Amino acid sequence: MEKPFYITTPIYYVNDKPHIGHAYTSLACDMIARFKQLDGFDVKFLTGTDEHGQKIEKAAAAKGVDPKDFVDEVSISFRELCSVLNLTNTDFIRTTEQRHKIAVQHFWKQLLESGNIYLGEYAGWYAVRDEAFYQEDEIVDGKAPTGAEVEWIKESSYFFKLSAWQQPLLDYYAKHPEAIQPESRRNEVLRFIEGGLKDLSISRRTLKWGVPVPGDPDHVMYVWLDALTNYLSALGYPNAGYEPYWNQSIHVVGKDILRFHSVYWPAFLMAANLPLPKTVFAHGWWMVEGEKMSKSIGNVIDPFEVVATYGSDAFRYFMLRDLSFGQDGDFSKASFLGRLNTDLANAYGNLCQRVLSFIYKNAEATIPAPGEFSEDDKAILAMPEDLLPTLRKQIDNFQLHRYCETVWQIVGEANRYVDAQKPWSLKKEDPARMATVLYTLTEVIRQVAILTQPILPLTSLKILAMLGVEDKNFASLKQALKPGIIIPEPQPLFAKY
Ligand code: MSP
Repeated sequence: MEKPFYITTPIYYVNDKPHIGHAYTSLACDMIARFKQLDGFDVKFLTGTDEHGQKIEKAAAAKGVDPKDFVDEVSISFRELCSVLNLTNTDFIRTTEQRHKIAVQHFWKQLLESGNIYLGEYAGWYAVRDEAFYQEDEIVDGKAPTGAEVEWIKESSYFFKLSAWQQPLLDYYAKHPEAIQPESRRNEVLRFIEGGLKDLSISRRTLKWGVPVPGDPDHVMYVWLDALTNYLSALGYPNAGYEPYWNQSIHVVGKDILRFHSVYWPAFLMAANLPLPKTVFAHGWWMVEGEKMSKSIGNVIDPFEVVATYGSDAFRYFMLRDLSFGQDGDFSKASFLGRLNTDLANAYGNLCQRVLSFIYKNAEATIPAPGEFSEDDKAILAMPEDLLPTLRKQIDNFQLHRYCETVWQIVGEANRYVDAQKPWSLKKEDPARMATVLYTLTEVIRQVAILTQPILPLTSLKILAMLGVEDKNFASLKQALKPGIIIPEPQPLFAKY
């Protein structure tokens, strides 16, 4: 039986179309999901759209359309983004779906029956942009600490006894250091919890666009309670079968929404007597040419346009390689094109092109049979498999950029091996040795292409298809390439800019 593995992106607000920030969380999850799948896990990878709440209701009203029609349309663009980015998500959830409504209402009842919900009155600040409540002492110059506009609300509301979960959360996090990553973010969350938790308003009366509270349809549920539960509803909760995946769950989120995922969500789960996600990982934010990406500045980058111009693999590579996963980063045209030229065209592309073209022209387009391997050959042939345990650790520790570095180290070694072995000189001097060198190189390219699948799925498949390779999972790294395969005329894999 394959081991279950469950990874989720946040579900995206459908008030506006997708940008590279959304693409980023999804790409990071896709890289991890692909790696795990190639490494023999039974992977569920969830993404979707967050479609209720005041922010969406307002956006629909501004367009003069019914909220349902509005979310139907915008949700499609997020679904299209999945295919444009070549994501391997196994599901796409929308919070307006019936399966979600059933799950979230059941979840509410668990919180109610366990004595964690009471009716009261909320009077305080609310920021529609963040869909978040703020305390008086958090307000800076009349705005939320995030800079969002706030409004005063005063209405009857159901509350969740968040205060009761302060100590259980601290105890849990003391025992499970891996539960919030990276460590700096974990410390921020712990300081926040230690500062004291107040009960949380979890329903709204003045809003219609949401899931009705069971037994009191004058209220709709607070959109974050509704949204967070998507991670369970997509697994079929409360029906049996969700548990094996839920017990192995990883949420990847941006740093701005960590508090919802590492304070509210685990408290809800504890109150409902459910296990907590194994890890919540918070990544950093992308700036654009050194500035915050925003509609008002007009520098929002459209992932559809980037992919249309440069292809999905190039975009994936840049996003996954350029930013240290967890840190903030900068999307600049210079660094984007720099990476495409240096790492893709000059390093990986050139390795494949020079080796395969040489075989095509000088070895009757046939992968030659090797003779005896030298120590140099053996060293480079062993590299990819030797590095697999390191790559596994890097994925498990969310060091996605390091994974790229490690694989490109092999690419660099292989290019140096070509220069040192000089197959073009061997052609006359020692054709048998040339055959061994070319075989060695082709075998290394095969292994590298297997390892680049999580980052560059399309290009990796192209290379593997040229080499006639059928088994592509990590277990197949060990199976040596068959000589005698006839290769087609190689075409450059990456454009140079
Ligand atoms: N709907 C909520 C999530 C609910 S999950 C139960 C939400 N949606 S969002 O569309 O606003 O943001 C989704 C993700 O995109 C977040 O993880 C956020 O951090 C990420 N990003 C938005 N802008 C970003 C950048 N500029 N850079 C990197 N990621 C960014 O929050």
